[in-house]
This record gives sequence, structure tokens and C-alpha cells, in this order.
Amino acid sequence: MSGLRQPSFELVPGEHLAKLLNAQALIWNRIFNFINSMSLKCAIQLEKIIGNDQEERYALTDASRLLLKDNPLSVTPFLIAMLDPVLTKPWHFLTAWFQNEDLTPFDTAHGKKFWDYGGHDPKLNHLFNDAMASDARLVMSVVIDKCSAVFSGLESLVDVGGGTGTVAKAIADAVPSMECTVLDLPHVVAGLEGSKKLKYIGGDMFEAVPPADAILLKWILHDWNDEECIKILGRCKEAITSNDKKGKVIIIDMIVQNQKEDDEESIETQLFFDMVMMVMATGKERNEKEWAKLFFDAGFSDYKITHILGLRSLIEVYP
Ligand SMILES: C[S@@+](CC[C@H](N)C(=O)[O-])C[C@H]1O[C@@H](n2cnc3c(N)ncnc32)[C@H](O)[C@@H]1O
Repeated sequence: MSGLRQPSFELVPGEHLAKLLNAQALIWNRIFNFINSMSLKCAIQLEKIIGNDQEERYALTDASRLLLKDNPLSVTPFLIAMLDPVLTKPWHFLTAWFQNEDLTPFDTAHGKKFWDYGGHDPKLNHLFNDAMASDARLVMSVVIDKCSAVFSGLESLVDVGGGTGTVAKAIADAVPSMECTVLDLPHVVAGLEGSKKLKYIGGDMFEAVPPADAILLKWILHDWNDEECIKILGRCKEAITSNDKKGKVIIIDMIVQNQKEDDEESIETQLFFDMVMMVMATGKERNEKEWAKLFFDAGFSDYKITHILGLRSLIEVYP
């Protein structure tokens, strides 16, 4: 017999071949998923979002409007920071981290903790602080518009881990009687000038939190493990000055498993954040039961959740 030589591997029955090819296509799709992120970054850097080109034949979607660099609520600074090589490098160390004793894949990749890294790399420090400030602008527009009652009766507030002060400024502007303090690491608040209603303090929230009627924690607790969160919450509880009903901690963070089951994209996004917290820091995203346990373990008596922030929620926690 002339012609075809038998392949050395076992032949797959015909009807399975189509399935195998579909499986191969799915794996290719997963392999190249990073191209979505990197193409978006490139378009932003080349200013190729259509609105920037003043192209009038196309209507902007809400998402593309949020990518315009001149939009005050733009998420572009968040994109630029999250896709910076300093923050993408740790993903290459995930496997090594599963096999070593390092605190996080970020530590494996860079030899130091994420929170210390900014103190040594001013460029990353600025990128990250700008990313947080951009998120704070969007979040605070919603909070002040839909939920300003949360601040009523308060005369003082400390924003713990408040970055460069975008959240505190928004609250000080919206609530005339309020005096705000931003506590953050010294390299984050270095050189920032306060005002009559806004003070900056460089310090460590694990050591002490300045006294106030209310303590705000936006995107703080998801950065830390349970033991660390209980320490932070303990410092916050000690700092609450007011003994009547107004004293509280106000948390802005995600509550997982609160999305509708068919909202697969939102669930996936919350899981992405859970992974990001594990890779960059020692944190995680929590469901309501896990949040409640943290509050009670830290000595608080009650809490109230307001779902007004999309994938995140506002949680008031009472001493
Ligand atoms: C994810 S960012 C959130 C920033 C801001 N709250 C916001 O949401 O826009 C976490 C912040 O916690 C600060 N931080 C980390 N460790 C800290 C510590 N030990 N004491 C005070 N702030 C700290 C970081 O510098 C950073 O600004």
C-alpha cells in the first residue's frame, strides 16, 4: 500500500474532532485575553478613543466617555496604573509564590511589600495615587449625590489611608460643618498642603488613628487579611470620639456574592479584584458574612449596608 503513513499518536474518533477544535479555540481565547487590556492601554496612550479625535460620526458609549482623558471622572489613571509593568510583573510570579513562603507575588517579583514600594519609586507612587484619586472622584460624586445623609450630624472625620485627599476634600466641601483629616503613609502625603478644614497626617494606621466623630475606610480593608483588618478596625474604634449615636466607621468596599447570579460579568470582575488583592497585597474580597464577622470580632455592635456604588457598597459600622 502506498501513500499515507500512520501518525504515531492515537487517532481521535471523527465526532470528537470538532469538539477538540472548539476547545482549542477557547484555550487560544484565554491565552490571548491579555490583548484586551493591552490594546485598551495602547489606545489610551495614543489617544485613540474616538471622542479625543472629535470624530462626530460615532456616538460615545458610557464606557468610552469614562475613558476620555479630559473627563474629570475618567478611569484612565486607574487603567494606566493597573497595567504598569510594576503591577503586571507580579502575575509572572504567581506559580513561584505558590511554592515559596513570600507574603505576596508582588514581594516575590520586587523584593518588597507593595506599600513600601511607592516610597522607593516616586513614579509608581504618583501613578497609584492618581489612580486612587480618579476612582475617588467618581465614587464621591455618587456618595454626595445619593447618600450625603451618611455625614449628617458629623463634625469631624478621618479618612484613613485617604491617599492624596480627594475623598476628604469632597466631604469637606459638601458638609460645611465638617473638619477632615487624611491619614496616610508619609511618602503619600509628603508635600501636600491642607487648609482650614483639611489636615494631612503622615503615619501608620496600625499604630494610631487620630480622634474624630467618624472614620472613613475606602478601599482599605480589602487590602488586608482578617487579622490585619481587626487591628485596623480596633484602631478606628478607639479613635471614635463621639459617644452618642453618630460615631461610626464608614466603609466603601466590595461585598461579593451580592450580585444577581446571571450577572456573570460583575461576578467575574469581583473575582478579578479578589485575585488582585492576593497578588499585590495580603487582602481579599469578602461576602457579607465575612464582613460581619470582622466587625463583631473587632468589637463593633451593628452595621448597615447601602448598595449604591455598583460593584461596591457603603457600610456604616457602629461601636
Ligand atoms: C487602595 S489605596 C486607597 C486610597 C483611598 N482610600 C481611595 O480609595 O481613594 C490604600 C491606601 O492605604 C494607604 N496605606 C497603606 N498602608 C498604610 C498604613 N500602614 N497606614 C496608613 N495608610 C496606609 C496607602 O498608601 C493607600 O493610599
